[in-house]
Amino acid sequence: MRFLITAGGTREYIDPVRFISNASSGKMGYALARAVLRAGHEVTLVTAPTALRPPKGADVVRIESAAQMFAAVKERFSGCGCLIMAAAVADYTPARTSKTKIKKDGRASPTLQLKPTADILKWAGRHKAAGQIVVGFALEDRNLRANAERKMTDKHLDMIVANGPAAIDAERSDAQIKTIDGDWLTLHGKSKTVTARRIVRLAEGL
Ligand code: CTP
Repeated sequence: MRFLITAGGTREYIDPVRFISNASSGKMGYALARAVLRAGHEVTLVTAPTALRPPKGADVVRIESAAQMFAAVKERFSGCGCLIMAAAVADYTPARTSKTKIKKDGRASPTLQLKPTADILKWAGRHKAAGQIVVGFALEDRNLRANAERKMTDKHLDMIVANGPAAIDAERSDAQIKTIDGDWLTLHGKSKTVTARRIVRLAEGL
């Protein structure tokens, strides 16, 4: 099976040298790509900039913004058996990106206007074909299971992986995983490699 995996935090440019992003390291997405290859599958890794080296054998697509990630996923979604959206996609992007570097010019402090980005996961959940699997992540600091289950329903997901803010950039983390017809499963203090292998095994069983 071919897996399509997204990783890293997207960059939303304000001008050619400044952007809004988030603290995502990409570790979970890259661990998933390694786990997929180890399990004998093929992987396309759509990655925002990270400090990580992609695994040998992965088909790597480098993007920066949420819009570029959406275009890359749209182009490849029909060719994959399972999409795992591990990326931290910006929910908002600047309403306008300046083509030239914004100067101070002694003016009053600028105001940044934002517009929503497309929800890639929701798009995939709506457009999946029979047999295609769509897996999402949820970062929740409260009501983790209830919020994650709502996301699962809203976005037509086959599996959701929920964790708290402590998982960001961490080597080990707690994760709670739910498959569409299964119960919640809790992984305590596992490395992202172990969590990724579990996610891949669960996806294989869907
Ligand atoms: N996601 C996406 N496209 C976006 C935003 C998020 O595909 N524009 C994906 C992420 O990759 C992740 C999941 O959606 O798999 C996270 O869901 P989301 O509802 O964005 O979670 P939060 O950003 O945590 O939402 P909220 O702030 O409402 O909790």
